[in-house]
Amino acid sequence: MKQIALTGLKPSGSPHIGNYLGMLKPSLELAEKFQALYFIPDYHALTTVRDREQLANLTYQAAATWLALGLNPDEEIIYRQSDIPEVFELAWVLSCFTAKGLLNRAHAYKAIVDDNIAEGREEDKNINVGLFTYPVLMAADILLFGTHVVPVGLDQQQHLEITRDIALTFNANYGDVLTIPEAVIREEVMTIPGIDGRKMSKSYNNVIPIFAPSNQVRKPVMRIVTDSKRPEDPKDPDECNIFAIYRHLAATDAVAAKRELYLKGGLAYGEMKKELVALLETTFSEQRDRYNALMGNPDEINKILEKGAEKARDIAAPILAKVRKAVGVSVGAQ
Ligand code: TRP
Repeated sequence: MKQIALTGLKPSGSPHIGNYLGMLKPSLELAEKFQALYFIPDYHALTTVRDREQLANLTYQAAATWLALGLNPDEEIIYRQSDIPEVFELAWVLSCFTAKGLLNRAHAYKAIVDDNIAEGREEDKNINVGLFTYPVLMAADILLFGTHVVPVGLDQQQHLEITRDIALTFNANYGDVLTIPEAVIREEVMTIPGIDGRKMSKSYNNVIPIFAPSNQVRKPVMRIVTDSKRPEDPKDPDECNIFAIYRHLAATDAVAAKRELYLKGGLAYGEMKKELVALLETTFSEQRDRYNALMGNPDEINKILEKGAEKARDIAAPILAKVRKAVGVSVGAQ
């Protein structure tokens, strides 16, 4: 049997180039070697999204993203977290093996506490328990399937360490029940710069979307910040925000040729931006059409997600049974 790779795509809207290079593409590539599971953690989003239609729509967007980028639902497994009740049962069990101090130190929670303190508010102001126990639910997402590897961005590294910590604590008490997962973090694409040169992120408003209409892709690309070197000046490609994106999308020989031209002089930033626009168009136009078609047909997405959930639950059932047996609660009628 193949080892399991699993990752979750938070339902937070249509993706940008930074998501694609940092997380989506590497995750999809793992399907060659692993049995891959991709899911949408919609119940995680409930810690912050309070609008029913928005949550449902964001969930479809996340599913359509995976499918449009080439996830094959006959080979890989794609599902919605909320279709797997076993996750929430395991989350309770794991919470009993999670030191509260471990969660106190989790970045996302700690950042809000620190902010509250800095602003003179009560330290747990506006923090719900779901936000606090978010890492436990995430550990359940992973451990329920005997996952070996979890492709994630650097921002999730601490969550993976918490997951491993919880699993090791559980196993220390009951023996080798849970598989200890490894994070897979691709260093070379860790930080894709946004159009202002800072890390590409929705919160910085500096993103290049991948499924937006062509003019909405073109506009931010043409605004990418560069230095003021003239076309004939030699330039350092590794200092250029346009090249930093181009090099991950273009063919190897094209990248090498551009690198040479940068170093030699004779390349205008304006031209390079136009080339990047064209490259984005050829790279993503088919996927964009597929994405739009799927978003126009949520029934189709639902069908795929429900089928995926069935397959995922088949993998989960024996693992949850092992956990129940290990701790000594009911194992049901045998
Ligand atoms: N916390 C992840 C994020 O914010 C999403 C997520 C939830 C996840 N459960 C997961 C990622 C399990 C990998 C594995 O992006």
